[in-house]
Amino acid sequence: MSFSRTAVVTLIALAIAPIVPLAAQPPAAAPKPAPPAWMNPALDSDTRADLMIHEMTLDEKIQLVHGDGWGVLRSGAFVNARHNGGAGFVPGIPRLGLPDINLADSAYGVRMAALQGRYATALPSVLGMSASWDPDAAFLYGSVIGRELRAMGFNMSIGGGMDLIREPRNGRNFEYASEDPILSGILVGQLARGVQSNHIMGDIKHYAVNDQETGRNILDAVIDKRTLRETDLLAFQIAINLAKPAGVMCAYNHINGDYSCENDYTLNQVLKRDWNFKGFVLSDWGGTHSTVKAALAGLDQDQPGDDNFFSDPLKQAVLAGTVPQSRLDDMVHRIVRSMFAVGAIDNPPLPRRVVDPFRGRDDAQKIEEESIVLLQNSGNLLPLSSSAVHSIAIIGGHADVGVLSGGGSAQVDSPGGNAIDPTMGASAWGKAVYFPSSPLRYIREQAQPSAAIAYDPGTDPAAAAKAAASAQLAIVFVTQWMSEGQDSATLSLPDNQDALVAAVAAANPNTIVVLENGGPVSMPWAPNVKAILESWYPGIGGGQAIANILFGRVNPSGKLPVTFAATESDLPHPKVTGLTPRTGNNGADAGTQARERPQEFPVDYNVEGMAVGYRWFQQKNIQPLFPFGFGLSYTHFAYTNLKVSSDAKSVTFDLRNTGAQAGDEIAQVYVTLPATAGEPFRKLAGWKRVALAPGATQTVEVTIDPLYLSTYSTATDSWTRPAGTYLIEVGGSSASLPLHEKISLESGSSVAVTLP
Ligand code: BGC
Repeated sequence: MSFSRTAVVTLIALAIAPIVPLAAQPPAAAPKPAPPAWMNPALDSDTRADLMIHEMTLDEKIQLVHGDGWGVLRSGAFVNARHNGGAGFVPGIPRLGLPDINLADSAYGVRMAALQGRYATALPSVLGMSASWDPDAAFLYGSVIGRELRAMGFNMSIGGGMDLIREPRNGRNFEYASEDPILSGILVGQLARGVQSNHIMGDIKHYAVNDQETGRNILDAVIDKRTLRETDLLAFQIAINLAKPAGVMCAYNHINGDYSCENDYTLNQVLKRDWNFKGFVLSDWGGTHSTVKAALAGLDQDQPGDDNFFSDPLKQAVLAGTVPQSRLDDMVHRIVRSMFAVGAIDNPPLPRRVVDPFRGRDDAQKIEEESIVLLQNSGNLLPLSSSAVHSIAIIGGHADVGVLSGGGSAQVDSPGGNAIDPTMGASAWGKAVYFPSSPLRYIREQAQPSAAIAYDPGTDPAAAAKAAASAQLAIVFVTQWMSEGQDSATLSLPDNQDALVAAVAAANPNTIVVLENGGPVSMPWAPNVKAILESWYPGIGGGQAIANILFGRVNPSGKLPVTFAATESDLPHPKVTGLTPRTGNNGADAGTQARERPQEFPVDYNVEGMAVGYRWFQQKNIQPLFPFGFGLSYTHFAYTNLKVSSDAKSVTFDLRNTGAQAGDEIAQVYVTLPATAGEPFRKLAGWKRVALAPGATQTVEVTIDPLYLSTYSTATDSWTRPAGTYLIEVGGSSASLPLHEKISLESGSSVAVTLP
């Protein structure tokens, strides 16, 4: 029997008609599978991670604890199709819904954007941002980086430079925040919070004591435990506590005999046990040196992974029991729980989009305007008055086209190519890259239209002096290019620029110097120039920020986060340890990698011990060129009426703007511990950035964390606040502290206030 097609349809229609009217019939959909249990956002990150890890095979676990090779960093290397073009890639597990980890260097902006035809905002250097002493600026800084990483399809930042500035000639100081552990910890912690607020995993590096580049792969940082805890590690402790970053990158160097990435003390005992760090430790690129030792010491992820320590050899070690299965599970747990915690799994990377360059530039300029430090202003030459300035000689520093940036893995690509020569490309390892933010252009915009503004490249001091002599004032831009992989042999500006400034200053009594530099430099010409402006590496809004300060549209408010020594012989280490006379950048040794100097060598940080930076200068009674915390304004501030709470947890004082202009003051509180502590110097214990209208007074309260009054006992492995008399000092720099009070604190909470 056969039926026509119409008859079949009619029969079926009749069969179902009594049950459901045709129009209301739902399509026969397959039941939707329930989302896996770990996708329940009501559960905490640790539980979610455990639920997912329970489903993983051994091979999948091993896959997560190492990167997949140098990728785009090394030409010819294998690049996974899902690799996003950053420094690192860890493939995810699609069947479980675990995204890939795409990691990008992002110290002062996202690195290697140009390779992908993208744009990234160059912020001022981290050291520059720190001169703002502004936790909100630090958060904004991190949020620009996080925002742009997310727009570009990354989900992990490997910025967050945190090493203390013990060595002012360190090539990477521009990536770090300060010589003071509390200032560093709070600002870099806020920066990492800003990154993570965009569902991007943050990182803090290089853990720890990677305080110079010379011999970084082989040097042994020798430092006693108490010093370690109270200085370099305290900075990390504060930042990690604040930001709860997903990652901590262990450094290349040894610390007291063991490599940082296989150092049981710093990784297991301090970071994971004492600080309860829940994230994962990833190695610096090529910083892993073993399988079992590193795994047992606390390394969780080997990067970039092509050394194979954490691939098959780790699997075999787990199978053989030399690395317990529980340790591998812990590594994986730390990685996956961090991804959940920051929202990287609930908010996987969006389709890539163009970053907002205008917003980024505005943010960069705002941060730079808070960060420029006015170091000298004789006769109140600054701010310049548009109507009074008729002619300016602008000299040197490529100020006609742009501003300098820091190099190495921090390098952000310059839009349109290197501003001094677009044919050089946007970036190149080992070459100074300028960003197209021309100070000359913005100075010209703010000067009266008829002002004669001439530019001289500054390559010939005699020619520059001639140009300066015929102008009403001279602005000399001096530069110090610094980079990962090399230190500067001296504090001097490179390329004969001291002679340039001296020649210009001799030719024109109204000479202003603008510095664009990686870290502290000496200035033998300082007494002979009227004004000095420290602009650090100023970022993409730098030219405009510098002009705004010069012409007073913005009142300078930055203060030095690092001491400027007058000369190398005043430093704890007059020479960079291990630096040979070979020439590299600024006279530094170009060869800092292990292959050039195979012999491990110690760097003895016990020379200065806890007396890092400004503490050294106070203890030795040495006058620096410019002290820590110092910076001028176009107005003045007066401090009165200090009150210290009986438990020393807070101080209040009155701050008055005694000048005629609105301005921000960074008011600082220092504490000197009782003599029994064995720390005969003042230490920064708190600060506040305060905006004041002319004539206004504000009562300022600064809280002091009891940790900052404590010392670390290696006998008991704990922090204790010693009993005795504490000196509290308050003022506008570490060398100008008009208010002081002594307070006696007994052990425990019994306290009594003594008047000074
Ligand atoms: C640097 C790290 C960087 C890594 C990846 C290393 O040479 O020390 O700071 O994150 O390379 O580029």
